[in-house]
Amino acid sequence: MAFESLDDFIRAADKVGEVQYVDGADLEIDVGGLTELTAEQNGPMVVFDKFAGYPEGFRVAANANRTLRRFALALGLPIDIHPLELLRRWRDKRAGSVPMAARVVQDGPVLANMQQGDAVNIESFPAPRWHPGDGGRYIGTQDMVILRDPEQGWVNMGCYRAMIQRRDRISLWINPQKHGRILAQKYWQAGKAAPVAVVFGCEPVTWMTASMSPPFGTSEYELAGAYRDSPVDVVELPLTQLPVPAHAEIVVEGEIPPESEETAIEGPFGEWPGYYTHQGPEAVVRIKRIYYRDNPIIAGAPPLRPINWSNFTNYMHLWEHLERSGITDVAGVWGFYNGLLTVVSLQQRYAGHAKQALITAAGFRHGDMKTYYVTVDDDIDPTNQEEVLWAMCTRVDPTTAVDIVRDAWTADLDPRVSPARRAAGDLTVGRMLINACKPFAWREQFAKTNVFNAEDRKKLQAKWGDLLANSGKK
Ligand SMILES: Cc1cc2nc3c(=O)[nH]c(=O)nc-3n(C[C@H](O)[C@H](O)[C@H](O)COP(=O)(O)O)c2cc1C
Repeated sequence: MAFESLDDFIRAADKVGEVQYVDGADLEIDVGGLTELTAEQNGPMVVFDKFAGYPEGFRVAANANRTLRRFALALGLPIDIHPLELLRRWRDKRAGSVPMAARVVQDGPVLANMQQGDAVNIESFPAPRWHPGDGGRYIGTQDMVILRDPEQGWVNMGCYRAMIQRRDRISLWINPQKHGRILAQKYWQAGKAAPVAVVFGCEPVTWMTASMSPPFGTSEYELAGAYRDSPVDVVELPLTQLPVPAHAEIVVEGEIPPESEETAIEGPFGEWPGYYTHQGPEAVVRIKRIYYRDNPIIAGAPPLRPINWSNFTNYMHLWEHLERSGITDVAGVWGFYNGLLTVVSLQQRYAGHAKQALITAAGFRHGDMKTYYVTVDDDIDPTNQEEVLWAMCTRVDPTTAVDIVRDAWTADLDPRVSPARRAAGDLTVGRMLINACKPFAWREQFAKTNVFNAEDRKKLQAKWGDLLANSGKK
């Protein structure tokens, strides 16, 4: 069953041991630091409360979706299955799901409190400085920026970072190709400010869809309804008529003026690849009203150095893309460092099969910063970093199994783009395609592996399960 609110999700996560509560942390160092350190251990989500200077109950929930267990919990899937099996189940769920429009309701918890006029003060909410080098407090890391297409009427949601500028201003960093920016530009070109709503905290599946990119013209609300198996209840805000989740935590209503009229210095902000790359004048939201639930929770998904975070949805999208493109026998898709290294495992059927998969994967639209593409045979678990590295180290002859693609698209936050290229707007870097499958033509003669096979392992587990369960403990 779908969760109504972030609070509901936290309660469910708590029941399966996935929540750590912390009182009295400070917003400059503790919140960001504990969020990073717990994530490094693949730990629970952290719910912070009782900040000095803020009402008790005004909380921050960090890393709600970060691990596979919590991701599965949010989607109503089994929480302790193999990552590839989880991807498969989600893919099946998507295949069987039907877009479901949001359901407009007249009232909701998000309308319980309101600030307007001189009372507007976004600084009244405990937004953390996620990393010491950040240029400000970021209230929006796991947010949803909502805009309506002025020509066609559909509503887009995107997750774009939001920094507090002052009481009635936040700035947004929306990259050029993002739908939110394209929609804002439509208003700006007509000399108008773009009406906008920004949501800071809601149940996790709706938020996840805001970080996906269905085709231009499709509302993420419809996707959210499909994945939740029930429509998202929304209230239409009085000033903009923009729909926001009725159970959202904090919502800003306002407008984004044309950038020729007003911008603010945004950033720097510790980004997901692990660096600071961007700081500059960016669009602002002039806040007209703030709505919030009693005891609101800011959802936080700060970019942490990509220790072990996986962008599960992208792997699933890539898997679908490969199959749509006619690549058969894909056994799994995974990635490391948020997909900077992307792995496709497959059962090779014909000469050139693995290369075809590599080329197709590297051309996928979601592949902006994904530099290394690797194919492995289906005896390699693509979710297991050690196995992937082993295949790369033992099945690859670099003189024949590696291809370099030059000048492929990348993102502003790619630290490898030189200052000269950046200044020229040439956001491109290379891709490396590594075929770590056994060479197709002589795969049968390839040296046999000496590891125990799956069947033997199963037998060993059955016989020695207790011993093995404890063998890794210090
Ligand atoms: C945690 C998180 C933070 C993100 N921050 C930004 C951001 O600051 N700017 C941006 O352009 N995209 C950001 N993205 C990526 C967009 O949310 C994503 O590309 C989404 O599909 C955009 O929606 P759109 O296709 O409707 O524009 C972020 C994604 C996640 C998961």
